[in-house]
Amino acid sequence: MKMIYYFSGTGNSLWVAKKIKEKLGDTKLVSISSLVGDSIIEDNSSTIGFVFPVYIWNIPNIVRRFVKRLNVNESTYYFSVITCASSQGSTLLNLDRLLKRRNGKLSSGFALKMPSNYIVLGGAEGKEKINQCFSNAEMRINDIQEVIGKNKENKLETSNFFMRMIGNIIYKFSISHINKMDKNYWVNEKCNECKICEQICPVDNIKMEAGKPKWLGHCEQCMSCIQYCPQESIQYGKNTLKRKRYKNPRINISEMMK
Ligand SMILES: Cc1cc2nc3c(=O)[nH]c(=O)nc-3n(C[C@H](O)[C@H](O)[C@H](O)COP(=O)(O)O)c2cc1C
Ligand code: SF4
Ligand code: SF4
Repeated sequence: MKMIYYFSGTGNSLWVAKKIKEKLGDTKLVSISSLVGDSIIEDNSSTIGFVFPVYIWNIPNIVRRFVKRLNVNESTYYFSVITCASSQGSTLLNLDRLLKRRNGKLSSGFALKMPSNYIVLGGAEGKEKINQCFSNAEMRINDIQEVIGKNKENKLETSNFFMRMIGNIIYKFSISHINKMDKNYWVNEKCNECKICEQICPVDNIKMEAGKPKWLGHCEQCMSCIQYCPQESIQYGKNTLKRKRYKNPRINISEMMK
């Protein structure tokens, strides 16, 4: 049995994980957000994959914490497919380091370009561009499957030296603030108290208070709440008021609830 552990805020990484599972066969998909906790995770599968989005040219905190809790076997074939909007930085090198510290290694690692969900910087692209992105990704997944299906190694896909350096600097300065950046979220009058934001948050960082969401200060910045709010009521600062929302159109909202 092969295992794929995935994390996904807006469906891109889940969509990729499902495609890879389909191609590999005999593979179990497990959501990392369903395994939040402190205990060691024992997994002796012969093949283990990690599929997740790039955050600030690096590994999202929730994924980093998860990998640290996983027992690592020298003989397991570890692979990773990360999704990003433009530049993956050192993400795969850092994942390899995490595994090497415990006698494992990342045998193969791929970065797939997917539509951006980072509404803080910009709104969703047009339908045509998004569809083109999916077609390119499907073709790449065929090539990726050729490597991981045969337990082959590849050169981990990273950005160039300059982008890795810049990415590492920005990551270092911003990562400790991520949890508290939810202070910028607010809801406008369109909120109809449906509670979807509370239910979809992968780390239970939203609680309804007097019918409206309240953010609790341990946010992963996954963008799930703002992108899935059916009323487009959730805002981040002022810039998102007119920005188009993005969520992977090929993933159902029910698949995003852990
Ligand atoms: C907090 C945050 C930081 C991000 N940082 C990067 C980045 O450094 N490079 C990049 O290319 N994309 C970045 N993105 C875009 C996502 O990696 C990309 O849209 C991804 O496919 C989203 O996957 P998901 O739908 O599975 O959550 C970032 C997104 C978020 C929410
Ligand atoms: S998802 Fe949107 S409309 Fe529903 S409770 Fe949350 S903010 Fe309000
Ligand atoms: S509060 Fe919103 S952005 Fe933060 S982790 Fe929860 S769903 Fe993601």
